[in-house]
Amino acid sequence: MSLVPGTVRPRRLRSSPALRRLVSEVRVHPSDLILPMFVKEGLSEPLPLSGMPGVVQHTLDSLLEAAREAVAAGVGGLMLFGIPEYKDEIGSQADDPDGILNRALSLLADEFGDDTVIMADLCLDEFTSHGHCGVLDEDGAVDNDATLDRYASMALAQARAGAHVLGLSGMMDGQVAYCREALDAAGFTDVVVMGYTAKYASAFYGPFREAVDSELQGDRKTYQQDPANGREAMRELGLDLAEGADIVMVKPGLPYLDVLAEVAQESIVPVWTYQVSGEYAMIEFAAAAGAIDREKAIEESLIAFKRAGSDAILTYWATEVAQRLQVEAAGHMSDRDARGGR
Ligand code: PBG
Repeated sequence: MSLVPGTVRPRRLRSSPALRRLVSEVRVHPSDLILPMFVKEGLSEPLPLSGMPGVVQHTLDSLLEAAREAVAAGVGGLMLFGIPEYKDEIGSQADDPDGILNRALSLLADEFGDDTVIMADLCLDEFTSHGHCGVLDEDGAVDNDATLDRYASMALAQARAGAHVLGLSGMMDGQVAYCREALDAAGFTDVVVMGYTAKYASAFYGPFREAVDSELQGDRKTYQQDPANGREAMRELGLDLAEGADIVMVKPGLPYLDVLAEVAQESIVPVWTYQVSGEYAMIEFAAAAGAIDREKAIEESLIAFKRAGSDAILTYWATEVAQRLQVEAAGHMSDRDARGGR
Protein backbone atom coordinates (compact mmCIF):
# COMPACT_ATOMS: atom_id res chain seq x y z
CA MET A 1 0.00 0.00 0.00
CA SER A 2 1.39 3.32 -0.96
CA LEU A 3 1.54 5.89 1.84
CA VAL A 4 0.41 8.57 -0.53
CA PRO A 5 -2.06 7.04 -2.96
CA GLY A 6 -1.29 7.93 -6.52
CA THR A 7 2.37 8.77 -5.94
CA VAL A 8 4.21 8.67 -9.22
CA ARG A 9 7.43 6.77 -8.70
CA PRO A 10 10.23 7.52 -11.18
CA ARG A 11 12.57 5.70 -8.78
CA ARG A 12 11.05 2.42 -9.97
CA LEU A 13 13.21 2.58 -13.09
CA ARG A 14 16.35 3.24 -11.05
CA SER A 15 16.07 0.21 -8.84
CA SER A 16 18.74 -2.07 -10.30
CA PRO A 17 21.87 -1.64 -12.41
CA ALA A 18 20.32 -3.80 -15.13
CA LEU A 19 17.14 -1.72 -15.22
CA ARG A 20 19.10 1.52 -15.21
CA ARG A 21 21.18 0.22 -18.09
CA LEU A 22 18.08 -0.75 -20.01
CA VAL A 23 16.42 2.65 -19.70
CA SER A 24 19.48 4.87 -20.17
CA GLU A 25 18.73 7.30 -22.98
CA VAL A 26 22.26 7.65 -24.29
CA ARG A 27 25.47 5.72 -24.03
CA VAL A 28 29.03 6.18 -25.12
CA HIS A 29 30.49 3.75 -27.61
CA PRO A 30 34.23 3.49 -28.39
CA SER A 31 33.55 4.60 -31.96
CA ASP A 32 32.10 7.88 -30.65
CA LEU A 33 35.51 8.84 -29.34
CA ILE A 34 38.17 10.64 -31.36
CA LEU A 35 41.71 10.91 -30.01
CA PRO A 36 43.56 14.21 -30.53
CA MET A 37 47.33 13.58 -30.80
CA PHE A 38 50.35 15.86 -30.88
CA VAL A 39 53.42 15.04 -32.95
CA LYS A 40 56.50 17.18 -32.67
CA GLU A 41 59.42 17.44 -35.04
CA GLY A 42 62.90 16.85 -33.68
CA LEU A 43 61.98 14.94 -30.52
CA SER A 44 63.88 11.79 -29.66
CA GLU A 45 61.55 10.75 -26.83
CA PRO A 46 57.87 11.49 -26.20
CA LEU A 47 57.58 14.62 -24.06
CA PRO A 48 54.99 14.68 -21.24
CA LEU A 49 52.93 17.86 -20.92
CA SER A 50 52.84 19.39 -17.45
CA GLY A 51 49.41 20.96 -18.02
CA MET A 52 47.88 17.71 -19.27
CA PRO A 53 49.01 14.79 -17.11
CA GLY A 54 49.02 11.64 -19.23
CA VAL A 55 49.26 13.45 -22.58
CA VAL A 56 52.53 13.73 -24.50
CA GLN A 57 54.02 15.34 -27.55
CA HIS A 58 54.86 12.34 -29.71
CA THR A 59 57.78 11.37 -31.86
CA LEU A 60 56.74 9.73 -35.12
CA ASP A 61 57.50 6.34 -33.55
CA SER A 62 55.54 6.89 -30.38
CA LEU A 63 52.69 8.39 -32.41
CA LEU A 64 52.39 5.21 -34.41
CA GLU A 65 52.46 3.08 -31.29
CA ALA A 66 49.78 5.17 -29.55
CA ALA A 67 47.69 5.19 -32.73
CA ARG A 68 47.80 1.39 -32.88
CA GLU A 69 46.67 1.20 -29.27
CA ALA A 70 43.79 3.61 -29.93
CA VAL A 71 42.67 1.78 -33.05
CA ALA A 72 42.83 -1.56 -31.24
CA ALA A 73 40.59 -0.07 -28.54
CA GLY A 74 38.05 0.75 -31.23
CA VAL A 75 38.15 4.55 -31.21
CA GLY A 76 36.30 6.34 -33.99
CA GLY A 77 39.32 8.17 -35.34
CA LEU A 78 42.51 10.10 -34.72
CA MET A 79 42.94 13.88 -34.94
CA LEU A 80 46.51 15.00 -35.54
CA PHE A 81 48.23 18.23 -34.56
CA GLY A 82 51.78 18.87 -35.75
CA ILE A 83 54.44 21.01 -34.13
CA PRO A 84 57.26 21.98 -36.50
CA GLU A 85 60.78 22.88 -35.40
CA TYR A 86 60.78 25.87 -37.69
CA LYS A 87 57.97 28.42 -37.56
CA ASP A 88 57.61 31.51 -39.75
CA GLU A 89 55.18 34.32 -40.54
CA ILE A 90 53.11 32.32 -43.01
CA GLY A 91 53.43 28.89 -41.40
CA SER A 92 55.23 27.41 -44.38
CA GLN A 93 55.64 24.00 -42.74
CA ALA A 94 51.87 23.56 -42.74
CA ASP A 95 51.54 22.81 -46.45
CA ASP A 96 55.04 21.44 -47.02
CA PRO A 97 54.66 17.73 -47.82
CA ASP A 98 57.75 17.16 -45.64
CA GLY A 99 56.28 19.18 -42.77
CA ILE A 100 55.82 17.17 -39.59
CA LEU A 101 52.02 17.06 -39.72
CA ASN A 102 51.91 15.86 -43.31
CA ARG A 103 54.61 13.27 -42.67
CA ALA A 104 52.68 11.97 -39.69
CA LEU A 105 49.48 11.79 -41.73
CA SER A 106 51.26 9.75 -44.43
CA LEU A 107 52.68 7.44 -41.81
CA LEU A 108 49.24 6.75 -40.33
CA ALA A 109 47.62 6.48 -43.75
CA ASP A 110 50.20 3.84 -44.74
CA GLU A 111 49.66 1.96 -41.52
CA PHE A 112 45.87 1.99 -41.28
CA GLY A 113 44.53 2.78 -44.74
CA ASP A 114 40.75 2.99 -44.36
CA ASP A 115 40.66 0.90 -41.14
CA THR A 116 40.33 4.03 -39.05
CA VAL A 117 39.50 7.66 -39.77
CA ILE A 118 42.55 9.88 -39.98
CA MET A 119 41.94 13.55 -39.33
CA ALA A 120 44.14 16.63 -39.48
CA ASP A 121 43.86 19.96 -37.75
CA LEU A 122 43.71 22.51 -40.53
CA CYS A 123 44.91 25.73 -38.96
CA LEU A 124 48.07 27.80 -39.00
CA ASP A 125 48.62 28.53 -35.32
CA GLU A 126 50.95 25.58 -34.71
CA PHE A 127 53.08 26.72 -37.64
CA THR A 128 53.30 30.50 -37.36
CA SER A 129 56.01 32.44 -35.53
CA HIS A 130 53.33 34.80 -34.15
CA GLY A 131 51.00 31.98 -33.13
CA HIS A 132 47.89 33.32 -34.87
CA CYS A 133 45.57 31.04 -36.80
CA GLY A 134 46.09 33.05 -39.98
CA VAL A 135 48.58 35.28 -41.75
CA LEU A 136 48.89 38.93 -40.73
CA ASP A 137 48.46 42.10 -42.78
CA GLU A 138 50.81 45.12 -42.55
CA ASP A 139 49.06 46.32 -39.41
CA GLY A 140 49.48 42.99 -37.67
CA ALA A 141 45.79 42.05 -37.97
CA VAL A 142 44.77 38.56 -39.07
CA ASP A 143 44.01 38.80 -42.78
CA ASN A 144 40.98 36.64 -43.45
CA ASP A 145 41.17 36.30 -47.21
CA ALA A 146 44.93 35.91 -47.48
CA THR A 147 44.59 33.15 -44.87
CA LEU A 148 42.06 31.29 -47.00
CA ASP A 149 44.72 30.75 -49.66
CA ARG A 150 47.00 29.22 -47.05
CA TYR A 151 44.18 26.99 -45.79
CA ALA A 152 43.38 25.77 -49.30
CA SER A 153 47.02 24.87 -49.80
CA MET A 154 47.05 23.04 -46.45
CA ALA A 155 43.87 21.20 -47.41
CA LEU A 156 45.54 19.86 -50.55
CA ALA A 157 48.72 18.89 -48.70
CA GLN A 158 46.74 17.05 -46.02
CA ALA A 159 44.53 15.32 -48.57
CA ARG A 160 47.61 14.21 -50.54
CA ALA A 161 49.15 12.91 -47.32
CA GLY A 162 46.10 10.69 -46.81
CA ALA A 163 43.86 12.53 -44.34
CA HIS A 164 40.23 11.42 -44.54
CA VAL A 165 38.79 14.35 -42.55
CA LEU A 166 40.07 17.92 -42.38
CA GLY A 167 39.29 19.83 -39.19
CA LEU A 168 38.97 23.49 -40.12
CA SER A 169 39.61 25.12 -36.77
CA GLY A 170 40.80 28.59 -37.79
CA MET A 171 37.48 30.48 -37.68
CA MET A 172 38.11 32.43 -40.89
CA ASP A 173 34.98 33.49 -42.75
CA GLY A 174 34.41 31.42 -45.87
CA GLN A 175 36.95 28.72 -44.93
CA VAL A 176 34.66 25.78 -45.54
CA ALA A 177 33.61 26.84 -49.06
CA TYR A 178 37.14 27.85 -50.00
CA CYS A 179 38.72 24.56 -48.94
CA ARG A 180 35.86 22.50 -50.39
CA GLU A 181 36.33 24.15 -53.77
CA ALA A 182 40.09 23.62 -53.75
CA LEU A 183 39.67 19.97 -52.78
CA ASP A 184 37.06 19.30 -55.47
CA ALA A 185 39.09 21.05 -58.15
CA ALA A 186 42.02 18.77 -57.33
CA GLY A 187 39.86 15.65 -57.41
CA PHE A 188 39.63 15.13 -53.64
CA THR A 189 35.86 14.97 -53.70
CA ASP A 190 35.75 12.28 -50.99
CA VAL A 191 37.81 14.16 -48.43
CA VAL A 192 35.49 15.17 -45.60
CA VAL A 193 35.37 18.74 -44.33
CA MET A 194 34.59 19.17 -40.65
CA GLY A 195 33.98 22.78 -39.71
CA TYR A 196 34.68 24.09 -36.23
CA THR A 197 31.37 25.88 -36.49
CA ALA A 198 31.04 27.40 -33.05
CA LYS A 199 34.49 27.91 -31.65
CA TYR A 200 34.75 30.26 -28.73
CA ALA A 201 37.70 32.39 -27.64
CA SER A 202 38.24 30.33 -24.51
CA ALA A 203 40.50 30.19 -21.48
CA PHE A 204 39.98 26.44 -21.55
CA TYR A 205 42.50 26.10 -24.39
CA GLY A 206 45.25 27.03 -21.90
CA PRO A 207 47.08 23.69 -21.68
CA PHE A 208 46.85 23.21 -25.47
CA ARG A 209 49.10 26.22 -25.95
CA GLU A 210 51.87 24.32 -24.16
CA ALA A 211 51.02 21.21 -26.16
CA VAL A 212 51.70 22.97 -29.47
CA ASP A 213 54.52 25.24 -28.24
CA SER A 214 52.30 28.20 -29.13
CA GLU A 215 54.00 31.54 -29.75
CA LEU A 216 50.77 33.49 -29.29
CA GLN A 217 50.89 36.87 -27.57
CA GLY A 218 47.48 38.32 -26.93
CA ASP A 219 44.28 36.55 -27.89
CA ARG A 220 42.11 35.33 -30.76
CA LYS A 221 39.07 37.52 -30.08
CA THR A 222 38.93 38.97 -33.59
CA TYR A 223 38.19 35.55 -35.04
CA GLN A 224 36.97 33.18 -32.33
CA GLN A 225 33.52 33.81 -30.88
CA ASP A 226 32.64 35.78 -27.79
CA PRO A 227 31.53 33.41 -24.98
CA ALA A 228 28.47 35.61 -24.44
CA ASN A 229 27.03 34.85 -27.88
CA GLY A 230 24.83 31.83 -28.36
CA ARG A 231 22.74 33.13 -31.25
CA GLU A 232 25.86 33.80 -33.28
CA ALA A 233 26.62 30.09 -33.21
CA MET A 234 23.45 29.49 -35.18
CA ARG A 235 24.55 32.01 -37.77
CA GLU A 236 27.89 30.19 -38.07
CA LEU A 237 26.00 26.91 -38.38
CA GLY A 238 23.89 28.25 -41.25
CA LEU A 239 27.01 29.42 -43.04
CA ASP A 240 28.97 26.20 -42.57
CA LEU A 241 26.05 24.13 -43.82
CA ALA A 242 25.55 26.41 -46.81
CA GLU A 243 29.28 26.21 -47.57
CA GLY A 244 29.14 22.43 -47.61
CA ALA A 245 30.49 21.31 -44.23
CA ASP A 246 30.04 17.54 -43.87
CA ILE A 247 30.31 17.66 -40.09
CA VAL A 248 30.06 20.56 -37.65
CA MET A 249 31.68 21.04 -34.29
CA VAL A 250 31.09 22.93 -31.06
CA LYS A 251 34.09 23.77 -28.90
CA PRO A 252 34.84 23.85 -25.98
CA GLY A 253 32.44 21.25 -24.61
CA LEU A 254 31.04 21.46 -21.09
CA PRO A 255 30.93 25.27 -20.79
CA TYR A 256 28.95 25.37 -24.07
CA LEU A 257 26.44 22.53 -23.67
CA ASP A 258 23.57 24.93 -24.40
CA VAL A 259 25.14 25.84 -27.74
CA LEU A 260 25.82 22.20 -28.48
CA ALA A 261 22.21 21.24 -27.74
CA GLU A 262 20.88 23.94 -30.03
CA VAL A 263 23.28 23.12 -32.85
CA ALA A 264 22.39 19.44 -32.49
CA GLN A 265 18.68 20.32 -32.81
CA GLU A 266 19.17 22.31 -35.98
CA SER A 267 21.96 20.53 -37.82
CA ILE A 268 21.29 18.26 -40.76
CA VAL A 269 24.84 16.87 -40.59
CA PRO A 270 26.68 15.10 -37.75
CA VAL A 271 27.59 17.24 -34.76
CA TRP A 272 30.78 16.76 -32.80
CA THR A 273 32.17 18.28 -29.63
CA TYR A 274 35.72 18.93 -28.53
CA GLN A 275 36.37 18.30 -24.84
CA VAL A 276 39.34 20.63 -24.78
CA SER A 277 42.63 20.64 -22.92
CA GLY A 278 41.40 22.78 -20.02
CA GLU A 279 38.42 20.52 -19.45
CA TYR A 280 40.79 17.57 -19.39
CA ALA A 281 43.13 19.36 -16.98
CA MET A 282 40.33 20.31 -14.59
CA ILE A 283 39.25 16.73 -14.11
CA GLU A 284 42.80 15.34 -13.93
CA PHE A 285 44.00 17.87 -11.38
CA ALA A 286 40.83 17.76 -9.29
CA ALA A 287 41.06 13.98 -9.21
CA ALA A 288 44.76 14.06 -8.37
CA ALA A 289 43.89 16.31 -5.42
CA GLY A 290 41.38 13.74 -4.25
CA ALA A 291 38.41 16.04 -4.83
CA ILE A 292 36.55 13.91 -7.35
CA ASP A 293 36.49 10.34 -8.62
CA ARG A 294 38.47 10.50 -11.85
CA GLU A 295 36.83 7.73 -13.86
CA LYS A 296 33.30 8.64 -12.85
CA ALA A 297 33.88 12.30 -13.66
CA ILE A 298 35.26 11.40 -17.08
CA GLU A 299 32.33 9.13 -17.80
CA GLU A 300 29.78 11.71 -16.67
CA SER A 301 31.34 14.42 -18.81
CA LEU A 302 31.16 12.22 -21.91
CA ILE A 303 27.55 11.25 -21.19
CA ALA A 304 26.71 14.95 -20.92
CA PHE A 305 27.89 15.49 -24.50
CA LYS A 306 25.84 12.59 -25.77
CA ARG A 307 22.76 13.79 -23.89
CA ALA A 308 23.16 17.28 -25.39
CA GLY A 309 23.14 15.68 -28.83
CA SER A 310 26.77 15.25 -29.82
CA ASP A 311 27.40 12.33 -32.17
CA ALA A 312 31.12 12.05 -31.51
CA ILE A 313 33.54 13.60 -29.04
CA LEU A 314 37.15 14.59 -29.35
CA THR A 315 38.71 13.71 -26.02
CA TYR A 316 42.22 13.09 -24.74
CA TRP A 317 40.78 10.14 -22.82
CA ALA A 318 39.56 8.40 -25.98
CA THR A 319 41.83 5.35 -25.77
CA GLU A 320 41.45 4.85 -22.05
CA VAL A 321 37.65 5.11 -22.14
CA ALA A 322 37.35 2.93 -25.24
CA GLN A 323 39.44 0.26 -23.52
CA ARG A 324 37.28 0.46 -20.41
CA LEU A 325 34.10 0.17 -22.47
CA GLN A 326 35.50 -2.90 -24.22
CA VAL A 327 36.30 -4.52 -20.89
CA GLU A 328 32.85 -3.64 -19.51
CA ALA A 329 31.11 -5.08 -22.56
CA ALA A 330 33.10 -8.31 -22.14
CA GLY A 331 32.30 -8.26 -18.40
CA HIS A 332 28.52 -8.18 -18.95
CA MET A 333 28.88 -11.24 -21.12
CA SER A 334 30.94 -13.18 -18.63
CA ASP A 335 28.74 -12.23 -15.63
CA ARG A 336 25.88 -13.75 -17.49
CA ASP A 337 27.90 -16.82 -18.48
CA ALA A 338 28.84 -17.26 -14.83
CA ARG A 339 25.16 -17.35 -13.92
CA GLY A 340 24.51 -19.89 -16.62
CA GLY A 341 22.52 -17.48 -18.80
CA ARG A 342 22.62 -17.63 -22.55
C1 PBG B 1 43.60 25.81 -33.19
C2 PBG B 1 43.14 24.88 -32.12
C3 PBG B 1 43.14 25.10 -30.74
C4 PBG B 1 42.63 23.95 -30.16
C5 PBG B 1 42.36 23.05 -31.17
N1 PBG B 1 42.65 23.64 -32.38
C6 PBG B 1 43.66 26.22 -29.95
C7 PBG B 1 43.15 27.59 -30.11
O1 PBG B 1 42.19 27.85 -30.84
O2 PBG B 1 43.73 28.47 -29.47
C8 PBG B 1 42.46 23.74 -28.69
C9 PBG B 1 42.24 22.34 -28.27
C10 PBG B 1 42.38 22.12 -26.81
O3 PBG B 1 42.47 23.08 -26.01
O4 PBG B 1 42.40 20.94 -26.42
N2 PBG B 1 44.43 25.13 -34.10
